[in-house]
Amino acid sequence: MQEKLEALIAAASTEAASINERPVFEAFKARLVGPNGELTSVMKEIGRLPKEERPAAGKMINQAKGRLQVVLDKALTQIEAAEIAAQVGPPIEPALPVPEAGPGGVHPLTLVREEICRIFKQVGFTVIEGSEVETEYYVFDALNTPPDHPARDLQDTFYLPEEARFGNVSKFADERYLLRTHTSSVQIRTMLERKPPLRFISPGKVFRRDTVDATHSANFTQFEGLYVDKGVTVRDLKAILDYMFESLLGAGTKTRLRPHFFPYTEPSFEVDFSAKHLAKVSGDWIEMAGCGMVDPAVFEAVGYDPDVYSGYAFGFGIERIAMCLYGVDDIRYFYQNDQRFLKQFVR
Ligand code: DAH
Repeated sequence: MQEKLEALIAAASTEAASINERPVFEAFKARLVGPNGELTSVMKEIGRLPKEERPAAGKMINQAKGRLQVVLDKALTQIEAAEIAAQVGPPIEPALPVPEAGPGGVHPLTLVREEICRIFKQVGFTVIEGSEVETEYYVFDALNTPPDHPARDLQDTFYLPEEARFGNVSKFADERYLLRTHTSSVQIRTMLERKPPLRFISPGKVFRRDTVDATHSANFTQFEGLYVDKGVTVRDLKAILDYMFESLLGAGTKTRLRPHFFPYTEPSFEVDFSAKHLAKVSGDWIEMAGCGMVDPAVFEAVGYDPDVYSGYAFGFGIERIAMCLYGVDDIRYFYQNDQRFLKQFVR
């Protein structure tokens, strides 16, 4: 039996060295160690041996199995290396200039973000940056989104393991960390830090488990807006949205609010816009964002007196705006770094 096993291992090692494709590897593995494989058939011989020889034979089989595993692991590593090499392409020659290197340009999402910041700065908003790694408190609890709310579903969200806390310490010891699902967390961080009146927008990346298609991406960019003062009303909200859309898309752009639900605003709305003067913006009304009047529960969470202050909040997807502005029909273009796409936006 030992000889048979030695022969099997030797043959396998020789054969393994020449395998460089996954399907070939899988077939090879099945032939060696699969249920109908060569090792199994040697193993079956044990049953025919006298009882006293069986333990030693079993040991031999186990050792052979271990050695075959080493052969298989080595072959797999080799295949993976070949796959990576195929993706990476030929080695880069650092001494040569990059072929057709242009002057470079600003990414279309950056262009839109800068334009939005400019528009809002003109009417007294500041721009605040937030953290992409957040705790449940800032993303959900303080935004009036209790633990049983579907938005917190583990499946829909990227939670971080304990060891990845980056020193971003939460006030609650048992809280989980996650990549923020929306920029609304910046509302809470900012209100906890500052006293009203407050007026800012906050652009940045957000992350959700989502199936990628022409209009969805697991990470994308949003900007949040928050205005808190005495006597802020829905009229102010409507006015700022009108101003923003007209500034972005030109005079003649209209907006409308449709009732909706968000845990952190009451009343809540979805914002649609219509820009009939733009050929590339087809259709009547196009849904664009969520907004509403800050829910008193949110003010209470941050220690603002809801009887004294009121405010509006809104959240936009920057990709959506960019898609409308530039007539882009697939969100994935923004992330593929394809020069043919990016070059169209060079200023
Ligand atoms: N956070 C929401 C989202 O990601 C968008 C949103 C809706 C932001 C309403 C707001 C708001 O500030 O008031 O879908």
